[in-house]
Parts: sequence; structure tokens; C-alpha cells
Amino acid sequence: MDFKERIAEALSKAIADADKNEIYSSIEIPSDLSKGDFAFPCFKLAKVLRKAPPLIAKEISEKMDKPDGIEKIEVVNAYINFYADKSVFIKEILVRVFERKEEYGKSDYGKGKNIVIDYSSPNVAKPFHIGHLRSTVIGNALYNIFNAIGYKSVGINHLGDWGTQFGKLIVAYKKWGDKEAVERDDIKELSRIYVKFHEEAKENPALDEEARGWLVKMQQGDNEALDLWRWFVDISMKEFNRIYGRLNIKFDSYKGESFYNDKMAAVVDEIKEKGLLTESEGARIVDLSEFNMPPCLILRRDGGTLYPTRDISAAIYRKKTYDFDKCVYITALDQNLHFAQWFKVIELLGYEWSGDLVHVPFGLVSLGDGKLSTRSGHVVLMEDILNSAVEKAATIIEEKNPNLDNKKKIAEDVGIGAVIFNDLYNSRIKNVVFDLGKMLNFDGETGPYVQYTHARACSVLRKAGVSDVDFDIDFSLLRDEASVDVCRVLSEYPEKLIEASEKYEPYIVTRHIIALCQAFNKFYHDNSILGSDTELRKARIALTYAVKTVIYSGLSILGINAPREM
Ligand code: ARG
Repeated sequence: MDFKERIAEALSKAIADADKNEIYSSIEIPSDLSKGDFAFPCFKLAKVLRKAPPLIAKEISEKMDKPDGIEKIEVVNAYINFYADKSVFIKEILVRVFERKEEYGKSDYGKGKNIVIDYSSPNVAKPFHIGHLRSTVIGNALYNIFNAIGYKSVGINHLGDWGTQFGKLIVAYKKWGDKEAVERDDIKELSRIYVKFHEEAKENPALDEEARGWLVKMQQGDNEALDLWRWFVDISMKEFNRIYGRLNIKFDSYKGESFYNDKMAAVVDEIKEKGLLTESEGARIVDLSEFNMPPCLILRRDGGTLYPTRDISAAIYRKKTYDFDKCVYITALDQNLHFAQWFKVIELLGYEWSGDLVHVPFGLVSLGDGKLSTRSGHVVLMEDILNSAVEKAATIIEEKNPNLDNKKKIAEDVGIGAVIFNDLYNSRIKNVVFDLGKMLNFDGETGPYVQYTHARACSVLRKAGVSDVDFDIDFSLLRDEASVDVCRVLSEYPEKLIEASEKYEPYIVTRHIIALCQAFNKFYHDNSILGSDTELRKARIALTYAVKTVIYSGLSILGINAPREM
């Protein structure tokens, strides 16, 4: 049992009809540590016990046993404050980190539950842009967070690999395409001819008619149409995989929209049988006016399926295949309505799991110069962005540490780490400002700052020789404020992972790692680690080791590499 569990146990024995889990989760860590290391507020109990909260606090504190490791219990107004014996506190937390190493923080909180995460999901033959970066990075972090706390995450890349754009692309390719150019420039060339199609179609609407014809051929299984389509998908996947490789991201499934082609007829029948399908201007829809939403489009006038039809079919398929506890969709918030609509259709179909579908929206990316990257607007290519971040990282490394080995690899880790960290730094709904200078500032709350702190800890350990880290440590030597602060941050790490999962918010982990780095850097500046005498040196090295381990684990959960030298 850790401190909080022991406090919860002692409290629940002193409170009639207590719910120990609820007590556990109400225990707080005061922001002003002169008020104790843990605090239990009694406001909630007032309703049940029908007494004033301060009186309840007083009565419980008199009745309860002192938990192990607690030095002093004090009542201040409605709070019961607990003061830990610092040596016990430090020892417990450090021993736990040593025992579990990179596994520290991981738990079986979600054991036995599957969570499907639908993220990245770019559109074939269209560029992978900065908006897809957010989905990719947030989704990957959530994937790792859920896995770390015992869920089984299933990562799905719901590729946009079917739909009207392919009819247009086939026409464009047949008219203006060149095989070699496509093979050389992949998506850039495809999107060039795609844009050209739109320009030409404005003058010449017959092109649209032709494109529809090709789409129908695709739907009917025409070989020429499908061969071209498959080729476009392969070309696009090559680029996507290059980016995923650099971001170190893999998916468990790449079943995109086209996978549902032969599964939609049954779903449309089901919608019809359950009396939900109505006609509107020749199209088939589910009327949602009762729920204050525009209709959900199921079939186009020509019988073609649509984005919502594919999502509904995919959800039913995923429930059957993965029996998910939650199925989570990570997209920009401009898709809020789309998800609200088809989630409603699932509910109206009578699926009791409709409440387990979760849309996790995120804000836009602003490019610092005021331009926004939206679906229609100005598109910024992902690879250009990664390249410029890596180049800038390389320049900084060249200035700071020109003799570093392996500079190229480290610049890649730092540049990409900076992009990811910046994306995960705030609550996801906030817009992200894409400012290379800021996100690569080694002194800011940035990826490079965290990586640098990690490298600093590694360097201390290298100089000390790893053999210095052992369990035979006098923990009472670490009772100074800076050391205790480090341990406090370490101790909260497991809960932060759980909190991040409950809110679908990776920034909770990001900020926690920042807090750990700040606490460690204060400790590092206040104390001499290697220069202190033997026992103290041993204790401080142990603390450094624990910090290094947790930074490493936190960064890897966020999808960021942690070089040992920078
Ligand atoms: N391909 C879509 C886009 O780029 C995102 C798909 C999100 N996932 C989903 N199941 N709808 O906007």
C-alpha cells in the first residue's frame, strides 16, 4: 500500500458506511505544502452526516488511527491534513521506481478492457497535412496511455480511401497524368492533378459527369478503375508510411473506408427495417430534426454511400470484432456534428453500446503568421514541417555541442520531439500555434527542454558509474525541500496517467513531465551530486536515476525519443 491507500484505509475505518474508493479519490495533494503532504476535505460528508464540515473533520481526526508513515495529523477548517515522515515517503517512492524501472507508473486499472482508437486517418491522394498531425500525435499518445494502464488499445487508421475524389482523380490522371511523375513525386503530383481537375471542372462541368461515371465503375468492380484506385492508394501509403516511420507510429489496423464497401448494404437494410430511413430529394437520410440536428445522409441520389454510412458500418464491425469498452475518434472539432449525427443513428438503431462511442475533438493549428490550416484552406505539408523542425534542431545542436556523436539522429529526435511535445502541451481543444522558435527553445516548457534534462540526468549517471545505484541507501539524507519535491512529483505519476486516460488528455502527462524536470533541475542546481560525500552521493545518484527513468517512460508514452546525450 502506498501513502494514499493507507490514509484512505485509516479514514474509512473512522467513517461510518464509508466508500473507500471514493475516499481515496478525494484525497488531495495541497498546493501549499506547508499545509501537509495530503489533505482530506470533509465537505462531501456533510450532506450524509448532516453536520458542519469542520466538526466532521475534527471528529474523524480524533477517531482515526495514524496511518503508517504519517508523522502528524492536523485539522484546518474542513480539511484533515496529513504530514508524511519524509524519510519514509522518499524511501517508498524511490524503492518503487527502482523495482519497476520503466514499468513504474503502469497499472492494471483498465485490465480486461479493449479500447479502439481511430486516429490519423488521412485521405488517400490528398496531402498529409498539419491537421492530420494533430490526430496522429494525440491518438498515438492516448494509445500508449491506455496501454500503460492495462487496457488493450487497438489503433485503427481509418484511411479515407473511397469516395468521390477517386472518380475525379481517375479523370484527371487520364487527361493530364504522367506515370513517371506520379512515381517520382507521389502525392504532390496526385494532388497537383486533383487541384487542376477542380479548376478545369469550373469551366467544364462535363468533367464532373465523367468523374461520376468512373466512381460508378469503381463501385461496380470495373478492373481498370480499381487498378488505378489501388495504385493511388499504394502511392499515398508510401508517403504516409514514411511519415509514420519518422514519428515512430504503427497501427494495428489500416482498414479504411473502402473496407466497408461490401458491408454497407446490410447496414442500410437494417436502418430501413428499423424504420429510420426516409427520402429527401432523392437521397436517403435519417431525419434527426427531433434532436435539433440536420439529417444524417445515408445514400446519395445515385445510390452511392457516404462518409457517415461508412462510419456507422465501421462502428458495428468494430463492436463485433473487438468488443470494445470504448471506441474513440480523434479528429478536428469541425467534425463535431458529423459524429453527433451518426452516434445518434447508432443509438436509434437500438445498440446499447452507443454511449461507448467517444468523439475526441481538437483545435486548429495556427501557423503563427495568422494563417490557419483548414480543410479547404491553405495546406501545409507534414513532411516540410518535420524537415524544418529537424533542420532548426540541427543548427542549435551545432551551436551548443558541435562535437556530439550521432548529431544527425539526435537532431531528428529533437526536431520531431519538439513538434510532438508542442502539440501535446495544451488541452487538445485549444488551437496550437506552430512556432518553430518557441517549440525549440531549450529553456521553455518544450520537448528539447525535457530531452535536455533527461540527457543531463544520463550524464550524471554516466559519470557516477551505474554501479553506484543500489538499494542500500540512507533515504533520510534526501530530506531537503528540493529532493522531497522531486519525490512528490514522481509519486503522482501513476495517477496522472489514469487522469489523462479519463479525460482523453495527453497534456496531463506532458505537464507532469515538465513539473518533474523543473523539480529535478532545481535539485540539480541546489545540490552537488557527484561532489558530495559517499552516502549522500549515493542517495542523490539514486534520485537522479529515478528521475531519468520516469522522464524516459513519460516521453516514450507521448511518442518522443529521449537521446542519452545532446
Ligand atoms: N479521413 C477523415 C479526414 O481526413 C478523418 C477520418 C476520421 N475517422 C473516422 N472514423 N471518421 O477528415
